[in-house]
Amino acid sequence: VFSHIVRAPEDPILGVTVAYNKDTSPMKLNLGVGAYRTEEGKPLVLNVVRQAEQLLVNDRSRIKEYLPITGLADFNKLSAKLILGADSPAIQENRVTTVQCLSGTGSLRVGGEFLAQHYHQRTIYIPQPTWGNHTKIFALAGLSVKSYRYYDPATRGLHFQGLLEDLGSAPSGAIVLLHACAHNPTGVDPTKDQWEQIRRLMRSKGLLPFFDSAYQGFASGSLDTDAQSVRMFVADGGEVLVAQSYAKNMGLYGERVGALSIVCRNADVTSRVESQLKLVIRPMYSNPPIHGASIVATILKDRNLYHEWTLELKAMADRIIRMRQQLFDALRAKGTPGDWSHIIKQIGMFTFTGLNKEQVAFMTKEYHIYMTSDGRISMAGLSSRTVPHLTDAIHAAVTR
Ligand code: LMR
Repeated sequence: VFSHIVRAPEDPILGVTVAYNKDTSPMKLNLGVGAYRTEEGKPLVLNVVRQAEQLLVNDRSRIKEYLPITGLADFNKLSAKLILGADSPAIQENRVTTVQCLSGTGSLRVGGEFLAQHYHQRTIYIPQPTWGNHTKIFALAGLSVKSYRYYDPATRGLHFQGLLEDLGSAPSGAIVLLHACAHNPTGVDPTKDQWEQIRRLMRSKGLLPFFDSAYQGFASGSLDTDAQSVRMFVADGGEVLVAQSYAKNMGLYGERVGALSIVCRNADVTSRVESQLKLVIRPMYSNPPIHGASIVATILKDRNLYHEWTLELKAMADRIIRMRQQLFDALRAKGTPGDWSHIIKQIGMFTFTGLNKEQVAFMTKEYHIYMTSDGRISMAGLSSRTVPHLTDAIHAAVTR
């Protein structure tokens, strides 16, 4: 009965790792998936995560019962505070419901399904380009997916005029997916002033903001700075959705821990929204897993662990920034044709190099460097040791 099934292609991002794993060359380098590596090229478990896990193991009162449908209550409260700010009036006025979800993807999917069932406007606008999974998540949630201009290849920067025009002509009430910071894949974010213009335009047209916050603390090294865009929208009293992931900023990739918060107009609406979120979640996965959320809650509620976390986070962000500078300097020193200043201007985990599909394929074939075919490289996968190899590959790709 399954003989008609055709083989599906590998995922454009996770499939890069599949190809990398098959390569036997000692010089191979994986700059595909956005996952942090140390200077030695190794995955990193944060010291605070190890400490939190030790505390959890030692606590004999911990049990393995089901969590509520909405997840671990402490985790939800602390996650809302982290993204919205400890003194957020929306939290004080009980206008925020937060549910623990399966990392950023799960949070986006639950939010998408909720909107498809309960929101009057079923169209979502996503930036062009955006993280490859966004389109599929929202389409499968039952929303109609359209795009707005975001990136200008000519300037390798924000297409601000195009963005304003496209959102300006979106139907009233449409949902708009915004990357809270460190836009994936471009590394290009609006300035504070541009965010304010976007906010005013969206509010004047009644467009509903849905933030994807996958890199809080990772872009600038500051948790508050990276939450600024979300907080600007929440401060005006209007509705906001935000999906948070702890994959990158706590290095909890495989724990699949994240949260969806919905900020509403008043406490009564908020509790009704939460009751409906439970109906979305229950038939999907019943209730979320306990371990990752317990790690996060342990860190966020302990003053010392929290402080230590901010230092470890800043160290990761700073290493990525150093890699940008080293790659830029190396390309300049080699005289590689082109203006590579976007490498140091873009922020977050990725550089959108501007290399095309053929150049990427060449670098993979000849230099065993793995990256997504759109020319995105994960700066977090690079180290001082591998910068020269990448530089040689880019040089050869653009001069051949
Ligand atoms: C990425 O863009 O590489 C990450 O967000 C990992 C993923 O799931 O795609």
